[in-house]
Amino acid sequence: NKEKPWGGRFGGGTAKLVEEFTCSLHFDRRLYRYDIAGSMAHARMLARQGILTAAEAEAIVNGLQTVQGEIDAGTFLFDPGDEDIHMAVERRLTAIIGEAGRKLHTARSRNDQIALDIRLFLRDQVGVLIEALQDLRRAGVRLARRYFSVILPGYTHLQRAQPVLFSHHLLAYDEMWRRDQGRLRDCLVRFNVCPLGAAALAGSTFPIDPPYTAELLDFPAILNNSLDAVSDRDFIVEFAAAASLIMVHLSRLAEELILWSSAEFAFIEIADAFCTGSSIMPQKKNPDVAELIRGKSGRVIGHLTGLLVTLKGLPLAYNRDLQEDKEPLFDTVDTVLPCVRLMAGVLDNLALKKEKIAAALQGGFLTATDMADYLVTQGVPFRTAHAQVGQTVRFAETQGKELADLTLEEIKQFAPLAEADLFGWLQIEQSVNRRCSPGGTAAGRVAEALAAVEQELGLT
Ligand code: ARG
Repeated sequence: NKEKPWGGRFGGGTAKLVEEFTCSLHFDRRLYRYDIAGSMAHARMLARQGILTAAEAEAIVNGLQTVQGEIDAGTFLFDPGDEDIHMAVERRLTAIIGEAGRKLHTARSRNDQIALDIRLFLRDQVGVLIEALQDLRRAGVRLARRYFSVILPGYTHLQRAQPVLFSHHLLAYDEMWRRDQGRLRDCLVRFNVCPLGAAALAGSTFPIDPPYTAELLDFPAILNNSLDAVSDRDFIVEFAAAASLIMVHLSRLAEELILWSSAEFAFIEIADAFCTGSSIMPQKKNPDVAELIRGKSGRVIGHLTGLLVTLKGLPLAYNRDLQEDKEPLFDTVDTVLPCVRLMAGVLDNLALKKEKIAAALQGGFLTATDMADYLVTQGVPFRTAHAQVGQTVRFAETQGKELADLTLEEIKQFAPLAEADLFGWLQIEQSVNRRCSPGGTAAGRVAEALAAVEQELGLT
């Protein structure tokens, strides 16, 4: 224990079980580059303030460079006794450069150090994720362009409702993905604040210069309150919430792809490269990628919940409970990113089965609302029109016919103001193109929306 950086006040050694139990090295070693970058900035600031000599800071920075090289190369020996990545780096640094290494931790605590490391890590990850979402959006938009004019049944309650353009359907996801990107940018703005200088919880007695450290690490702002800086993880929760929404959006699309690729729908063919088979049923081609995306959404939502529960009972300031933030965070990042990338691959390789979709448009009275709207143009109040069309649908069902297959005389029994021009309104394409209200599915509207997104994504 005497070898531990905190060993001074301890008598015997740490129990082996405790050492294993408290150790975070197996996961937080992933933060080493950020930890080292933070230490270099801290050392430079200390020297600039005259707290370390220039020579000491230089030795520290060079030593840290060596440590980083060793970890990069995989030659660094991680010792479980080191507890966490901060101590592992510091121990090795001191072994390499001697006494100066023992001065690095002046005016600093692992509490502000870890708060920094996670922020630096998350900053990178948020950038990567926003880019991946951009690629996903591009794939979605390419698919929308490829099948721009395909009409498919739109559903509510998973019952056929009104016809919509497939491209319109895809652009609905694009709206979600743009908001997902916005949420990530938004949370970045709030957590892009340098916590160094909080030290353990109360700030430092040394004449430190946190704005300078922050500048070296490319932070636009520094902490306002030392207690808050070391103890809150709300930014991880915000990220986990944004990540959960990304997964929920992906999961909904995945669900549609799974349904649509079933024989019952048969609207789409997911490429072989994005499906897997069955070990017993030779005929099977299963949409496992979509299913796993749907399944992994539960895992990410679980991390969000877990993080909230970890935080809820913690008194200020730092508590070791906070070490439990990292595994859910890392797993969230490691789960969401491949899901986003895979969904892009699925979309880029998706084929629509146009004949099957066209056949589905023939059933389900998709233009019943159009008939009611038509009757309104003939002077019938909408509620009355609704009832008349309802009766017409009921009659058509008994005849095994669609509305357009009925004769005008048959229709007039229920809707006396109907005339021959009604039949135009019952055509699927007209139904789509009449919905030209803002945000509607009319081809003109969707063409505008698609062009705008293509421009936004640099696809034109
Ligand atoms: N490994 C710790 C964590 O992840 C770093 C901070 C430890 N601080 C402490 N006083 N034990 O939260």
